[in-house]
This record gives sequence, structure tokens and C-alpha cells, in this order.
Amino acid sequence: MERIYIFDTTLRDGEQSPGASMSVEQKYEVALQLARLGVDAIEAGFPVSSPQQYNGCRLIAERVRGPIIVALARAVQKDLESACEAIAPAERPRIHTFIASSPIHMHHKLNKKPEEVIEMACRSVRYARQRVEEVEFSPEDATRSELDFLCRLIEEVIEAGARIINIPDTVGYAVPEEFGAFIGKIMAGVPNIDKAIVSVHCHNDLGLGVANSIAAIRNGARQVELTVNGIGERAGNAALEEFVMALKVRQDILPFSTGIDTRQIYNSSRMLANIIGFPIPRNKPVVGENAFAHEAGIHQDGVLKHRATYEIMTPEDVGRDAGTLVLGRHSGKHGFLKRLQELGLVLASENQEIAYQRFLELADRKKEVYDDDIFIIVRDQIGEQLDTYTMSYFNFYSGNMAVPTATVRIESGSESFEEAATGDGPVDAVFNAIDRAIGLSTKLLEYTVHAVTPGREALGEVSVTVEIDGRRFIGRGASTDIIEASARSYLNAINRCKAAAKDSGGGTP
Ligand code: KIV
Ligand code: ZN
Repeated sequence: MERIYIFDTTLRDGEQSPGASMSVEQKYEVALQLARLGVDAIEAGFPVSSPQQYNGCRLIAERVRGPIIVALARAVQKDLESACEAIAPAERPRIHTFIASSPIHMHHKLNKKPEEVIEMACRSVRYARQRVEEVEFSPEDATRSELDFLCRLIEEVIEAGARIINIPDTVGYAVPEEFGAFIGKIMAGVPNIDKAIVSVHCHNDLGLGVANSIAAIRNGARQVELTVNGIGERAGNAALEEFVMALKVRQDILPFSTGIDTRQIYNSSRMLANIIGFPIPRNKPVVGENAFAHEAGIHQDGVLKHRATYEIMTPEDVGRDAGTLVLGRHSGKHGFLKRLQELGLVLASENQEIAYQRFLELADRKKEVYDDDIFIIVRDQIGEQLDTYTMSYFNFYSGNMAVPTATVRIESGSESFEEAATGDGPVDAVFNAIDRAIGLSTKLLEYTVHAVTPGREALGEVSVTVEIDGRRFIGRGASTDIIEASARSYLNAINRCKAAAKDSGGGTP
């Protein structure tokens, strides 16, 4: 079987999904899980774009062992310098540099002639090769580029030292047969292509990311760029779990292997969803709640008689056999820590104790603590460590005959602010009280609440999007009390705004 290299870009392209940004610690946590999952390469970020991106790449390069650690850079000197520096401590560092090659991008975005683009690409690859052994090059918007020009560009960057050539379908425009043929033409049209590994990076705007990636490997590509849960720019990237399971299930016609431990898929998916707060759609292939649920009587009957009647893969294949009901308050610290370990959640010892105390509080409020609850407890612990403001107390009064009123106490360092306010409802009243305490004015753009687990006593997770000084921030918070969850999520958004103000910004590609 031919080996396919799995290049994970959850922490770079995935993190570019609106609302999916992660703290440095959270990225590190996900990177450790990606290493357990068995990916070949982790694209850790785009270092020049912000100090947080730089620090995330650096931490992952310093501490994560196993996969190649990749940093992204535009084909410009300052990006390359920052990327090279950020990943220098990695066991096996790789620079991924890119420049657009389609007429529409070269003309309207870059305002560069094709010859200038070739020149910039080669210069960047040569520079990166002086600093690291492995250099990957991407002609951005490759699928809308002119084939002859693209082949010439690829030939020259290979000559300059690129050893991985990634063909991105940047805008998710390709369809499978066409994309497969396109890869075939590149394999045939670039004389020195045998010196490089051909990679693909398929966006999912038409829902064809995985299908296009499969078409590509059937035509010679040997690296595929993917994200957990398919997160990424706009409609996202090809989903890692779908691509990998397609190869495993259809080995009869897809004779390819990967280094992925498929039993780590479910944990990886849930860990990410809980960290970024994006719920996984119930019907999402492989990892959705319903992916292995059989509703119709005929189906249930069939599965009971023989699972293969309606199941092409088993929950165990993707690590879903562990069961979701976990612990109660009598499980003890040992049981709690053991479960953390099974879920791939690693906490520093001081955080273990805090997480355990939070678990006990939760177990007091609800009888059964599920894995998803544990993910949220841990997310709060390994969370952003950016708590400029914390809420030490809140109280509200509401009812259909009362004016909703809330009081909050907000702490910031040694200072403490207490305020009360009214509102249209208890959530509005709490938000107004927080605004007063902090002396802030925000616009609430989005508010959602969902139950993390089944049952009336479930944790409610609130996600808010607020606009502060013209910028948008997403915040999340969870509690068995949804007013408390709302207040936590609102403060989380405000804390993110404060953290961003400390960060000098920068654009992502
Ligand atoms: O979609 C894209 O073109 C990218 C490149 C930076 C590879 O993400
Ligand atoms: Zn992309």
C-alpha cells in the first residue's frame, strides 16, 4: 500500500475559521493530541501575523515531539524570518511558503506580473532552504491558475530547493474528476516533479474537499492537508476524520495507508470542539452524535442481527467505545485523573487540583458527569489564562411581574467593582451590570446557548459575539445555571478584547 502523509492544518487554516481562535496553551494542548493521533506534520501557525501566533508555534516546536512542525510564511523576507525563528527548536522543522499564482490573484491582490511571482517564490524558497532542511511551497489559488504557468513555477521552485509542492484549491472551486486530472497533468508536466512530494489542500466551499483529496491521491499526490472536524476558512477544509476513514473503509479500491491511529479520532474531534466551542453537527460523518445511531426499526433489527448490515465502520474504529457516562461525586480524584488521561487531557499538577475542585462542584449540582462536561472543565482550566476580569459574585432577580435586576462583583488584580443594573431580561441585566462595573460599552451581536449533555441538569454552554470599539470578540462560558454561563461568556469576550489590545495585530492570509 502506498503511504499518504497527513499534514494537519487545524492550528493554522482551521484556526482561521471565524471564532475558532485558540490561546497559546490551547494550541499546545491540541498539538499534543494531534501527535497522539499520529499526524505526520502539524502546521502550528503563521508566526508573523501576531505575537500569539509566534508564541504558539514556538511552544509547539519546543515541546511536541513526533510530527514535523510547520510554520507558514508569505513569500516575503519578514514572514520567513519570523517563521524560521519560531520553529527553530523543532525536532524536524518545515517552512511552508506561498504566493498566489492565478491571474485574478496576481493582478488584483498582488499587483504583480507572473515573472515577478516566480522570482519572489524562488527567492523565498532559497532563503528558507538556507535555514531549514524541509521547505514546502504552495501556489495559492492553484486550481484557477493557468496550467503552463503553474508547471513552470513549480519546476523553478523545486530547482530552488522546495521538496513538497502543495496544490491548494483555495476557494473550493474544483470538482473531483477535474481536480484528479489537474494533479495528473502537473505530475506529467513538471520535468523535475520526482524530486518533490505532491500535496493537496482542498477547501470545502462546495462540500467536495474530501472527494477532491481522494481524487488527488489517485493521481499521484502523496500528502494531504486536512483539519479536525473540517474547520477552516469559510466552509472549512477537507475533514481529517472523513478522509482517513474513507481510506480505511474502502481499502478495496483505495490501496493507501496513513500513520493515523483512528481510535484517537473521536477524542481529537471532541477536544477541538470543546476548546473552540463549535458544536459538532449531529449528522456529521464519523464524529457526529448520530453517525452510529440507528433510528428506523428495520435498521435497528438489521444491526442487532448483524452490525455490518447498516454499519460500514464501527464506533470502536474511531474510538467511540469508551462510553460517555463517566463519573459521579464518589469517583474520587484518582478516577477523575484517570479519565482525564484516557481522554488525552494533560494538565499541570496545580491545574489538576483546580479542575478536580470544579469537577466536585459540578458533581454536586448534577449527578452524572459526562466526558463533554470534563472537556469543558479542562477548557476553563487550561483556558486562555487571560483573565483580566473575573466574576466573584452575581445575583439576579427576575419574573414575569418584576423588572429584571442583577448585581455583580468583578475583580481585576487587587481591585474590586460592584454594580447593579436592570435589563430586558436577566441576561441583559447581568450584561448591563458587568458593563457598568468595568466601565465599558459593547454591542451584543450573537448569543447562543446549548446543553452540553443530555438531561435537565446539563451544563449550559453560552457563546456570545460582542463588538467592542469596532472589533468582534467571541466569548464562551459554561455552568448548570445559564445566567452564570452567560455572564462568564460575556466576561470571556471582554477578556479576549483586553488580551488582543496587548497583542500587536496582523493579518492572516
Ligand atoms: O487555501 C490556501 O490556499 C492556503 C494556502 C496558504 C496553502 O491556505
Ligand atoms: Zn487554505
